[in-house]
Amino acid sequence: MSQTSSTNPITTVSLGNLCLKNPILTASGTFGYGLEFAPYGNLSSLGGIVVKGLSLKPRKGNPVPRIVETPCGMLNAIGLQNIGVEKFLAHKLPKLPWKETAIIANLYAQTKEEFARLAEILAREKGIAALEVNISCPNVKEGGVLFGQDPDMAAQVTEAVKKNAGNKPVIVKLSPNVTDIKVIARAVEKAGADILSLINTLSGMAVNIYTQKPMLANIIGGLSGPAIKPVALKMVYEVVNCTNLPVIGIGGISTVEDVLEFILVGATAIQIGTANFMRPDKAFQIVEELPRKLAQLNIGSWSEWRGKLKV
Ligand SMILES: Cc1cc2nc3c(=O)[nH]c(=O)nc-3n(C[C@H](O)[C@H](O)[C@H](O)COP(=O)(O)O)c2cc1C
Repeated sequence: MSQTSSTNPITTVSLGNLCLKNPILTASGTFGYGLEFAPYGNLSSLGGIVVKGLSLKPRKGNPVPRIVETPCGMLNAIGLQNIGVEKFLAHKLPKLPWKETAIIANLYAQTKEEFARLAEILAREKGIAALEVNISCPNVKEGGVLFGQDPDMAAQVTEAVKKNAGNKPVIVKLSPNVTDIKVIARAVEKAGADILSLINTLSGMAVNIYTQKPMLANIIGGLSGPAIKPVALKMVYEVVNCTNLPVIGIGGISTVEDVLEFILVGATAIQIGTANFMRPDKAFQIVEELPRKLAQLNIGSWSEWRGKLKV
């Protein structure tokens, strides 16, 4: 439980066993390892920090260019560059305010065995509040099919992580690049997921007519930012209504009003991603604005607002 003197009973949320002082988390890959953003605000004021995707071994990521701006959003093909789980635990986690805010590890692997091993390593760490499993990655054993696009594979990864996660809540992060996200959501719920987070980026590409080349060296990337908010909102709404799990909404959130929209359709917490690139103090700003906005709308508790969309 993340508690400090600044804990406000009105903003506190619980996602099963995961209690947060407020529903504002930062999204994986958009907030570094957290420490990079310490100059811009008080890390402890956040509901939680989801760190960059961690793999068993360090990864260099894709060749550049790997980021391109698009109307109301951006495309990225970073390729999961990271320092590896061991270095993160030795050099980054001890410097993070894990007693005051929830530090959530985001797991990236290419086989379910690797996912299981990552979970085993992270489950021992008292500074880690929960594990978020990124299933939007290719399964090399199955010929590059995305784990998150196949309900059986998504369930197998969830089971493998859950088995080794000890008492850490397991969040499964869903991909929007599927025909019906509800099928995957139900499959991972059945396999033991504690919490769902969605959405990851939408597959996309950008090209240059003057060079006749793709804008990203990887050709294809993931679209994020305000452009994807309506898609994310709809998918969160669908998933909230087809499972019994708490949901963390992600996708294009950049204002306190956006936060309230996601909670209105049923999310319990949210993550701020691309908006951190627009303003590095964005998440801190939203945390500060939240109590005022709740007062303005006469919201005295989350139960008066969460899932209360009038349809
Ligand atoms: C540059 C960049 C890197 C990302 N890296 C990861 C990652 O390592 N693991 C992951 O699960 N999601 C990753 N994401 C996806 C985000 O966490 C988030 O799901 C997505 O960007 C949608 O939210 P947004 O529109 O608020 O950015 C990344 C996104 C961006 C823009």
